Amino acid sequence: MKKVVAAYFSPTGNSKKYVTLLAEKIDIPFDTLDFTKKENRRNDVVFSKESIVLFSAPVYAGRLPNINLFDNVKGNGAYAVCIVTYGNREYDDALLELKNICEQKGFQVVAAAAFIGEHTYSEYVGANRPNEQDDLKIEELAEYIKSGISKNCFEGNKLQVKGNEKYCEHKAIPLIPQPNEKCSQCGSCARKCPVGAIDEKTLLSDSTKCISCFACVKCCTKKAREVNNNMYFQLVNMLEKNLKDVEKEAEIFLLK
Ligand SMILES: Cc1cc2nc3c(=O)[nH]c(=O)nc-3n(C[C@H](O)[C@H](O)[C@H](O)COP(=O)(O)O)c2cc1C
Repeated sequence: MKKVVAAYFSPTGNSKKYVTLLAEKIDIPFDTLDFTKKENRRNDVVFSKESIVLFSAPVYAGRLPNINLFDNVKGNGAYAVCIVTYGNREYDDALLELKNICEQKGFQVVAAAAFIGEHTYSEYVGANRPNEQDDLKIEELAEYIKSGISKNCFEGNKLQVKGNEKYCEHKAIPLIPQPNEKCSQCGSCARKCPVGAIDEKTLLSDSTKCISCFACVKCCTKKAREVNNNMYFQLVNMLEKNLKDVEKEAEIFLLK
């Protein structure tokens, strides 16, 4: 029997949620590997042919987060399923980038999907996802994976997914959360930061390291971390104006 592993980078939880729902539907006990934690991105993680690894990560400006994500994994012929989650705008080249990384790392990519989650910067964009249609897509993907596992093979040609081979440029978004007067210095933001951008003593964010993922904003129970600049307010307004009343559909890609 194959070993199922749910491997994710998920600063605010959408990518973790989707990959966990999928893994649960496959109905075989599964392991999790949380690459949001810096320490899990440090040493090599080596898989074997017996594994099927479900990779999941968010879309940042049409790409994967710019942190050499999944650089420390080795596939050795293991199967992979690639998932990106995005905030109801577009996923552009991120899914293709994830698939290419997995193939370069020695995985055989047998399926992929792009799912919609609440946008990091607005609770009104991509709200209430996963919805019923998303559940059906997760179900369909899980059935396909289960049948591959039971036959011990996935039949078909090389997987094709949407995206341009010449990826769009990484775009750094200068939204750097800093502590406000409500901060009680508990330090949970610094512990939660996936890239070690928050100084453990001052709790100030280092703008050269911060990836604007908002893990620190969302984990703070005192609402003591914020971005207080016009660019942020304009971005939120623009997202809500253009995308609040739109519902993008999840997409899945299987071997044909
Ligand atoms: C820096 C940054 C850039 C983003 N860029 C996009 C984008 O290009 N398209 C989109 O639809 N959503 C975008 N989003 C929203 C996230 O992709 C979405 O909320 C994702 O599901 C978050 O995943 P997580 O909860 O696993 O961290 C962006 C979010 C952040 C923080």
